[in-house]
Order: sequence, then structure tokens, then C-alpha cells
Amino acid sequence: MSGKNITQVRSGDADGIAVAARLLREGGLVALPTETVYGLAARADSEAAVARIYAAKGRPAFNPLIVHVADLAAAQGVAVFEPLALRLAHAFWPGPLTLVLPARAEAGLAPAVTAGLPTVALRVPAHPVMRGVLDASRLPLAAPSANRSGAVSPTRADHVVASLGKAVDLVLDGGECRRGLESTIVAVRDASTLAVLRPGPVTEAMLAAELRGATLLRGQAGATIEAPGQLARHYAPGKPVRLEAEERAPGEFLIGFGPVRGDISLSVSGNLEEAARRLYACLHEAAASPCPRIAVAPVPPEGLGAAINDRLRRAAVPDEA
Ligand code: TXA
Ligand code: MG
Repeated sequence: MSGKNITQVRSGDADGIAVAARLLREGGLVALPTETVYGLAARADSEAAVARIYAAKGRPAFNPLIVHVADLAAAQGVAVFEPLALRLAHAFWPGPLTLVLPARAEAGLAPAVTAGLPTVALRVPAHPVMRGVLDASRLPLAAPSANRSGAVSPTRADHVVASLGKAVDLVLDGGECRRGLESTIVAVRDASTLAVLRPGPVTEAMLAAELRGATLLRGQAGATIEAPGQLARHYAPGKPVRLEAEERAPGEFLIGFGPVRGDISLSVSGNLEEAARRLYACLHEAAASPCPRIAVAPVPPEGLGAAINDRLRRAAVPDEA
């Protein structure tokens, strides 16, 4: 399955979905669209298949993967759902919410998926191509974002090809991802406490509406051990990034927002949903430009702006070198 010289890209139509499902059953690696970003999928019950994800991404072994399943019933075979978790699943699945829950040992997940943690990160995605592959393969699929570890996430098939190229057996093209930012990750700590480990399209206000007395702990992202993947430096475009830029300094490629007109704009009208959808494509374009530095206009922190600013701050953390 590997060793080809060109990456196979196919349309995410019925034929493409069938081929992807077969490759996955055989232990292959398939990149495919979700509503958030493109994922790099492998069957979650195969240690060998999951090992290929870590190798293709250059991902550290201590950083566990999200398991994608077709529906809540399948999710309940993988993890233990208390009433609070069930409420969130009913409210937001299928959709861009990942729940970190106690793993069921009998689920048969490859140990590398959870990197040895007693918990598992689970979500039921909404994208029709990903849903088609989950239904056709009848497998739980481990899938991190389909980029090299630490690099900018992919929201189009060509981003995947540029970042992972020959390391994957197949890329299913489903066009641009509608949300553009990775799922919100929430750990259900006990019957009445949630912690947001990664802000995302399901905002704190949306979560708060489902709490009914439960407590929402915030600012947990970056609390290392709990979300090992939340390393400070992430989504790095490979050039220095300056935030809150009102105008372009010499040598900068400016990504605008609202009134700040840049070389390109996240959203000329200042719409946060559009900005989220376009964020990674804009960072990819800035990275590919001849300018040695990137600047980004201020984006308000409210609502979806929290997740956008979280990603921008991580993109702007300087290289250690
Ligand atoms: O939208 C998304 O979530 C995308 C699409 C493809 O579904 N996936 C994604 O995966 O963003 P990835 O691997 O790039 O991010 C997974 C995050 C990492 O920060 C990881 O540390 C965290 O989930 N994670 C996974 N299992 C965990 C666990 N048991 N406890 C805490 N954090 C966990
Ligand atoms: Mg990622």
C-alpha cells in the first residue's frame, strides 16, 4: 500500500468512500474531510495501523488520538457515559465536540490510541464523507489532524498532500471544511464537573447552556498532562508570526480581519465563523508567500474568537532555536 510515487487523491463520492473503507479495513492510512479539519484515519483496533499514524505525522507517542465513531451507541461501547456526558452527546453529536471519558478496557482499542491513559477522546463527526466511511468500514477510526506534528492543520485536500504526501494511501477530497477549527475537547471529570481542554467550534456559551448546575472549568488547555497534545507551540507556519497587527511592517505578509485590510483577510466583514473557516488556509497561504514574516490583525476574543485566538497564540510561539 505504500511506496507509490504520487499521492492518490479521489473524490469523496460513493466510490471513493468504498475504496477508503476497504483500505482502512486492510490497515491502511486514509486522509479524509471532517466538518472541522481533514483527519488522518486508521482503524483504532489495530496497533500496526495506529503506529502508521504516529510515523506519518512524526507525532510523539505520548500524545493520544481522537477516536471517531458512527453514533452514540458505538461510542458507548468504547467509553463509559455518565448522565452529564450523555447530555453533551445528545446536545452536540454529530458535531465538533470531543468528549474525554473513562475508556472501556473491553473495547479493544490499540493501546497506542490512548497513549496509556485510562481515558479516551471520542467524537461522532458530522461530515457526510467521514460518516460514509465510518458506516462502510464498521470500525472505530483513530484520526488526528492530517498534518505533520506541530504544523498548520489542513482544511483542504491539497493541504494534506503538501504536508503528508506519500505517507498516506489515499486522500479523499471533500472540498473545504465548513468549520475550519478542530473540535472543542471537554473532559468530563465527575458527575458535575467539566474541563475545556481545547476551545473550538462548540463555544463555552454553548456548553454553559447544557450544564444544569454542573461546573465548567476553563483555562485548562495547556495543563500539560491532561491534554498532552496541547503543546504551547503548534499550528506553526514556519515563519515568525506577530499578532494584534494594525498594519503591515516591512517584510510582513498581513492577514487582515474586519477593518484591518491585509494581503488577504480572514473575513472582510468581521464574521467570526468565516474567519474560523479560513484561518488555516490563510496561514498556509502566508507560509507559502515570499515574505519572511507573518502578521495577523486583531480578532475579538468573544465566542468563536476564543478558539481562533487560541490557535493564533500557538502559531506565534517562537521556535526554541
Ligand atoms: O476536529 C478534530 O478534533 C480533528 C478531526 C480530525 O476530528 N482531530 C484532531 O486531532 O484535532 P488531534 O490529534 O490533532 O488532536 C487531538 C487532541 C490532542 O490535543 C490530544 O492530546 C487530545 O486530543 N487527546 C486525545 N486523547 C486524550 C485523552 N485521553 N485525554 C486528554 N486529551 C486527549
Ligand atoms: Mg492536530
